[in-house]
Amino acid sequence: MDNKILLTPPELDQFFYVQEETSDILKNLEKLSNIHPVNVLMTGRQGCGKSSLIRQFAAYFKRPLAVFQIGQLSEPGQLFGEHGLKCGETFYQEFLFPKAISTPGCVIHLEEINRPEHPKALNELFSVLSEDRSIWVDQLGLVKVAENVVFFASMNEGEEFTGTDALDVALRDRFYIIPVDYLPHEIEKQVLINKTRINEEDSELVLKVLGHLRSDPQIDSTISVRHSLMISELMGAGAGLKEAIIYSLSISRDILESILLSLHVETKDHEIKSNQYKRFV
Ligand SMILES: Nc1ncnc2c1ncn2[C@@H]1O[C@H](COP(=O)(O)OP(=O)(O)O)[C@@H](O)[C@H]1O
Ligand SMILES: [Mg+2]
Repeated sequence: MDNKILLTPPELDQFFYVQEETSDILKNLEKLSNIHPVNVLMTGRQGCGKSSLIRQFAAYFKRPLAVFQIGQLSEPGQLFGEHGLKCGETFYQEFLFPKAISTPGCVIHLEEINRPEHPKALNELFSVLSEDRSIWVDQLGLVKVAENVVFFASMNEGEEFTGTDALDVALRDRFYIIPVDYLPHEIEKQVLINKTRINEEDSELVLKVLGHLRSDPQIDSTISVRHSLMISELMGAGAGLKEAIIYSLSISRDILESILLSLHVETKDHEIKSNQYKRFV
């Protein structure tokens, strides 16, 4: 499992943007978390910045950060530990989760909380997230949530979401809910220019094409800030617009070319002849 715990706070991202309202509410929630435990649920489409916002929260408030992939849980109890066998004897191996919740001030991110592989896998989270903030684990005894711990959960939510992934109401009731959305054009441009080596003119072109793709109902995968960063990085390294988009989005060359034509975007890409080979030496 891709779970991790960073005992030293993550580094602050200098070019992370959020709506003023979101940053205000997060600061207030942090104050509250010093009085009593707080749970915050981030909802929003894939790649809109939920995970990075939670990391930025930990960085800003200089708190440790632990991330757990709830979407990968396939049975109850799995967060706490498992029985192993060593020299013919069984033993209990404790996992990172009990350690994270006993770390004072820890920001605990529960990723994809709405999609565990096993529906009962979330049962143990109920008591950790509820008022009593502790859970009895036979092998570990009473595990208590330490002071000032903040639980964040995130779930990808968009128009494509169906009932099967909706979060259990009883669980959702325990969270403050913060919707996150994609960045507006001008801000996304600032992110691209500041985080990659793309120039202003090229960043405009990238966002013009992505703007078109994002509003095209025939293209069913979402195009996130992660994608626009990937494209800009490739262009900053010298790739042309077409190649950068094709290799970042796996969109067909023909579709892209007709879109560029309709947008009157001229690219400086050299002609690529896919049936020509050369030695890669
Ligand atoms: N508001 C933002 N400001 C700066 N970078 C952003 C922002 N939102 C997203 N990114 C970048 O986009 C990428 C994807 O974001 P991520 O947090 O993984 O999305 P999510 O968890 O919603 O799927 C990250 O590399 C992140 O740095
Ligand atoms: Mg995420």
